[in-house]
Amino acid sequence: MIPIDNGTTENSTPAQTALVTGGASGIGRSTVRLFLTRGWSVVAADLNESSGRALLDEHPNEVAAGRLAFARADVSSEEDVERAAAQAASLTGHLACVVNNAGIGGAFGRITETSVEDWDYTFAVLSRGVFLGVKHAAKIMQAQGTGGAIVNVASLAALTGDAGPQAYSAAKASVVHMSRVFATELGPHRIRVNCVCPGAIATPLNPSASRGFDGSELARAQPLPFVGEPEHLASAIYFLGSSESSFVTGQYLAVDGGLEAAGPRLGQYLGTDPRYGSLVGVNRGNTGVKSTVHGKATQ
Ligand code: NAI
Repeated sequence: MIPIDNGTTENSTPAQTALVTGGASGIGRSTVRLFLTRGWSVVAADLNESSGRALLDEHPNEVAAGRLAFARADVSSEEDVERAAAQAASLTGHLACVVNNAGIGGAFGRITETSVEDWDYTFAVLSRGVFLGVKHAAKIMQAQGTGGAIVNVASLAALTGDAGPQAYSAAKASVVHMSRVFATELGPHRIRVNCVCPGAIATPLNPSASRGFDGSELARAQPLPFVGEPEHLASAIYFLGSSESSFVTGQYLAVDGGLEAAGPRLGQYLGTDPRYGSLVGVNRGNTGVKSTVHGKATQ
């Protein structure tokens, strides 16, 4: 029997805290709920104070027990992120997980019409925000000496060229790669860094995914026949943020109903994919052995 090193000491102490940025809405809010349900204490950091108040109103018992707090923070500001991370660390004395989730749609329009200000704003929130979140999580976790887990929220748009606006997609691609490079640096400290890539998830940020699924363009593109919900992300984030994934670091997990797996569906467009046509048999290439691909009667 091989003794299993649990990787980090996450979950080994009863009182541990998660910091969730963008925790007042959508995916972040569901993530806050799930961590609370699993017995964690949580600091939700968000720019939107009224959503933050609504989150606290939803969980009066956890607030009264000192297990849930809100931090008004702009993730593009180092001062704000540092303060929120310190607040989270002081809640139980053990910051075990940071979820860098805050996000916006960012700059829209063709590259010829995109302003530098809008491009920089997009990167400040989506890319710098994650860098700062990892930086201040790592400082605290290294000082604690008990490891930890960082989960960054990227996007399917990070993995393909036309799943989101240009600045958004490029910034999210940086999140996937930051997760790899920081994972290699922080691994020796038993701090794991992973990321999730949501597909189309029904949240206030993505009104089209929220507008119903059946018969939609999305339903035609996505293999799984139901809409992605914030809870689908929360469980993936919890997996990567807790000791359930102790030996996983530097990875991205697409939580997208199969959109990445389906890819550009070139075979469908070119008529060469037998799943969408009526071809059957085997193509033996240029081996000199006869191929047997032929049309079959449709049923
Ligand atoms: P949401 O709009 O429901 O929640 C995002 C939260 O981030 C909001 O509460 C907002 O106030 C906060 N926020 C925005 N800028 C901030 C800043 N500078 N500092 C602090 N907080 C800030 O959106 P959703 O859909 O839950 O998005 C969460 C993450 O998931 C984002 O990073 C988004 O890019 C990503 N994502 C979402 C997808 C979707 O289809 N909903 C698809 C792919 C990725």
